[in-house]
Amino acid sequence: MTDVLFQITEKELETGMRGYPVGYCTTSSVDPQKGLFYVGRPVSELALWTPEEVIYLLQFGKAGSKEEVAKFFADLQQRMVLKPETIEAIEKLPRAGHPMKLFSAAMLVLGMMEGKGDYPEDALNVIAKIPHLAAVVINFHAGWGKTPVSKPELGYMENFTQLLKVPKGDGKKLFPAFKLFNVLHFDHGGGNLSTFVGKAVASGLEDTYGSMCSALCALAGPRHGRANQDCLEFVREVHKEVGDKATAKDVEMLIRKRLQENKLVFGFGHAVLRVEDPRATVMYDYLQKHYPAHPLVKIALLLRTEGSKVLKENPKISDPYANIDAISGTMLAASGFDHPEYFTVLFGLSRCVGIARQIVYERCEARGGKGTPIIRPKYLYKGPKPM
Ligand code: MLT
Repeated sequence: MTDVLFQITEKELETGMRGYPVGYCTTSSVDPQKGLFYVGRPVSELALWTPEEVIYLLQFGKAGSKEEVAKFFADLQQRMVLKPETIEAIEKLPRAGHPMKLFSAAMLVLGMMEGKGDYPEDALNVIAKIPHLAAVVINFHAGWGKTPVSKPELGYMENFTQLLKVPKGDGKKLFPAFKLFNVLHFDHGGGNLSTFVGKAVASGLEDTYGSMCSALCALAGPRHGRANQDCLEFVREVHKEVGDKATAKDVEMLIRKRLQENKLVFGFGHAVLRVEDPRATVMYDYLQKHYPAHPLVKIALLLRTEGSKVLKENPKISDPYANIDAISGTMLAASGFDHPEYFTVLFGLSRCVGIARQIVYERCEARGGKGTPIIRPKYLYKGPKPM
């Protein structure tokens, strides 16, 4: 008999499959008390690594030596530049609506123009090309003009920073923020919605690009990836209401008032975590060090403490602590990327790295190389008795 890992009773139904074990994840794990680990290493440590080093870790399940990482990155560099015809096709798409729609469509276009139909090969290509793809999508959607020539030799996020034509953007401020944002969003266990959806679609043997497109659509919702946009807009709204000289008491009162009016307080709680999201802690530390006087940073720091304090009073709230979305947008804005509409695209740019690797595991390595079968859970019928 196999071990019973989870007993499913009626009360577990219609709960978003919260906590049901459904498989294995080789890249990362999320502990309710300790937060995110990539291959057993806490994100607080990885925040100091380069994206290239962390991608290596996720790909190979171990830290690479300097030479190993350089050799791996030399291979990625060969794959990083999009074909001109791919860019042309993307720039013929409509710019209407949220940029995540364009990003998801662009992912399909990339597959149509450059897909190889091989999971490991396409995974490496997606990881390599996604900074260029995201830059083309943002520059085109925002009307910032033609994307500059890609320069893979600069480095993974260095190249992205020069590709993105942020008006009045200062690369010296943007790069460290993009790098930190990137590394902290690569992966978050196997069960976050976008990763799960991407793997589910791949389980029907759809290719990497179609699977990744579905993952990006899953990420686009405000309960998942778009929460970072909503959170910055919330921080802004609070700033407008309490002003530059706000005290902790002002922010506390504002939160209490919002809750009384049944309005949302954004940036708190997580499906798995029961402590402050360690990814958020890294970003709070970064902002306290580099932008302590920025008006939005001051508000975000007051929300962090006062929000938790007020939410903890409600015993029904299982996680009254700040999550990554509470602060990631403020970090981008303080660093000169004050364009909330594109925050979810940056999340997608990063998360595709983890999803691509997890798809390769499920398609090519799981169950002794046979791969996992097509996802097909059971729903209990609820309706008129079948005749
Ligand atoms: C994520 O990074 O994917 C979010 O924190 C959501 C999740 O883990 O479910």
